[in-house]
Amino acid sequence: MLHVPIKNYEYRRMKEVKIESTLYVFNNLNEVPEDVKKLMDEAIKARIKAYAPYSKFNVGAAILLDNDEIVSGSNQENASYPSGLCAERTAIYYAGAQYPESKMIRMAITASSQNNPTSTPIPPCGACRQAISEYEVKQDTPIEIYFMGETGKVVKSNSLANLMPFAFSKIVL
Ligand code: THU
Repeated sequence: MLHVPIKNYEYRRMKEVKIESTLYVFNNLNEVPEDVKKLMDEAIKARIKAYAPYSKFNVGAAILLDNDEIVSGSNQENASYPSGLCAERTAIYYAGAQYPESKMIRMAITASSQNNPTSTPIPPCGACRQAISEYEVKQDTPIEIYFMGETGKVVKSNSLANLMPFAFSKIVL
């Protein structure tokens, strides 16, 4: 393959843009604020209802809306594997469909394996980040994301953009 080196003067024309992400970590669910604990409890209830006979990996997500409604969802698998859907998208598409005028304040996510205890925090997959990003851009207000395993640390991100800076959207550099 032909390798064309970038010349020094071309480097000088570039602006360097650094992206930083900050996460906040709580040691366990008892340390998070009461309203977040309430939302995570709804995500746990959803996780227990997950339909995951193939991966044996249950995920639950709950979203607090600005009308005080809580919408939740779990992963829904399918014998044709790619037809299944993650918990986060099940929940967010339901929220978008039922309450198109409401803003989403925060999402809580919890994951557990049916085979062994999951004490590490599980962040949303890239496809779910892209889906959540759509609503964050639409409502022009950050959506807080909290995620955890079955037990253990709870991680907070102040926005979806902080979890995925280069979502497919307009970016200002
Ligand atoms: N899963 C979610 O529900 N959310 C994610 O962010 C990643 C993965 C589900 C999909 C599938 O049912 C199972 O977890 C294993 O990948």
